[in-house]
Amino acid sequence: MRKPLVAGNWKMHGSHATNAALVGGIATGLARDAQLAAHCDVAIFPTFVHLESVAALAAATPIALGAQDCCAEHGPGAYTGEVAASSLQELGCRYVLVGHSERRALYGESDELVARKFLAAQAAGLVPVLCVGETLAERDRDETHAVVARQLGAVLERAGVAALARAVVAYEPVWAIGTGRTATPEQAQDVHAFVRGRIAALDGNIAGSVRLLYGGSVKASNALELCSMPDVDGGLVGGASLNAEEFVAIVAAAARK
Ligand code: 13P
Repeated sequence: MRKPLVAGNWKMHGSHATNAALVGGIATGLARDAQLAAHCDVAIFPTFVHLESVAALAAATPIALGAQDCCAEHGPGAYTGEVAASSLQELGCRYVLVGHSERRALYGESDELVARKFLAAQAAGLVPVLCVGETLAERDRDETHAVVARQLGAVLERAGVAALARAVVAYEPVWAIGTGRTATPEQAQDVHAFVRGRIAALDGNIAGSVRLLYGGSVKASNALELCSMPDVDGGLVGGASLNAEEFVAIVAAAARK
């Protein structure tokens, strides 16, 4: 069976002081009940500059580390300001987000660039968390499946379906991110089943094992019903991951799957 994963995307938040308190709080919460980490993988995604210090804070805990982005070029090389996936791996990262909607919308990342980042991440031994999702306008035009198929397809085309055995897919409807407006469990399930179906058309085994996370205003109060959906294997959590108690409560909900 698929072990749920709850991933905390800290976005551009955190200082040495707040990170220490947050990691400490999450670690304490997880230590209170050994069943949580036994039944749910937990990962946090601080900013690049905090990765090394957070890696040290999380070292003796079940908390895995991820980065929020990586360079599409394998490196090393003349790519000022970029961070190579291999550097992230060296710092202790297991995961890296690729194609987060904020990267796509604010920094113009194309499906093709995201696919190249996916490949660079895997080449460095990282597990890419491929983010897909539609805007509100696209949903209103009934284009949700088409958009998600295009975003997923760009990666499948370049990486091949076998690559998904070492990846995670996160469905994050743009209209639900940071808005307090969560997709209903049925809306999430619909897209997750669609994604799994696209993968199943190419490889049934990989479709059955790949973890599909839901992201977009996940909170302790809605995590249980979201995670009760058959194709929701956990969450990619933004705002609520900055509060240790709230985040651990989401892990507890996912662990009950
Ligand atoms: P929120 O949980 O704050 O809506 O953010 C979701 C997200 O973008 C996680 O990557």
